Amino acid sequence: EKSIVVLISGSGSNLQAIIDAIASGQINGRVAAVLSNKEGVYGLERARQAGIPQIVINHHLFDSRESFDSAMMEAIDAHHPDLIVLAGFMRILTADFVRHYQGRMLNIHPSLLPKYKGLHTHQRAIEAGDSQHGCTVHFVTEELDGGPTAIQAPIDILTNDDADSLQQRVHSAEHQIYPLAVEWFCADRLALTVSGAVQLDGATLAPEGYQFIQE
Ligand code: GAR
Repeated sequence: EKSIVVLISGSGSNLQAIIDAIASGQINGRVAAVLSNKEGVYGLERARQAGIPQIVINHHLFDSRESFDSAMMEAIDAHHPDLIVLAGFMRILTADFVRHYQGRMLNIHPSLLPKYKGLHTHQRAIEAGDSQHGCTVHFVTEELDGGPTAIQAPIDILTNDDADSLQQRVHSAEHQIYPLAVEWFCADRLALTVSGAVQLDGATLAPEGYQFIQE
């Protein structure tokens, strides 16, 4: 059973999807702790209800990214995690932090990376006139929203979509692909190679990752 630490900054619906997938037996792992950089967010309440230890490290109390990140590393490593899951964690991480967890840290991003790194992805996809949008689970590397992709879920953009309606459908796809990626990682099926490729069951995935097509 793998030990997982989940980092959040907000509502934690992806955290919930992972908690649920552990409870149902899909994921062979346990969430050892949930760490938030913000107090009072709903994701911490979800952790509390699931009996998971909660850690709050308020980034405002640190005078640099380096000192904030080393405080996080110390708190995280106390739990000896096999996997770090960024689930709506909205702080940029230092290179030291990222290197420390290289190959064992995943992130989910609401776009078909490499398109639309950063914020307001749904609005940007609509404004660009794209026919598809979606979400991506990727290994975290030093390039922001740039690490090698594990899974991508494409979602059709409908003619009457606005950012909210599109975000809702992307969010429900996130709740499917994130538990799947964590399931694979915990079963030793998903790995980042030293050369930076993503392998699933020993086969190297294409740069766009495993394509998750919804029914
Ligand atoms: C998710 O949509 C996730 O993809 C996004 O934040 C949301 C968190 O929702 N992450 C990013 O934008 C990272 N750059 P949640 O708190 O309900 O899981």
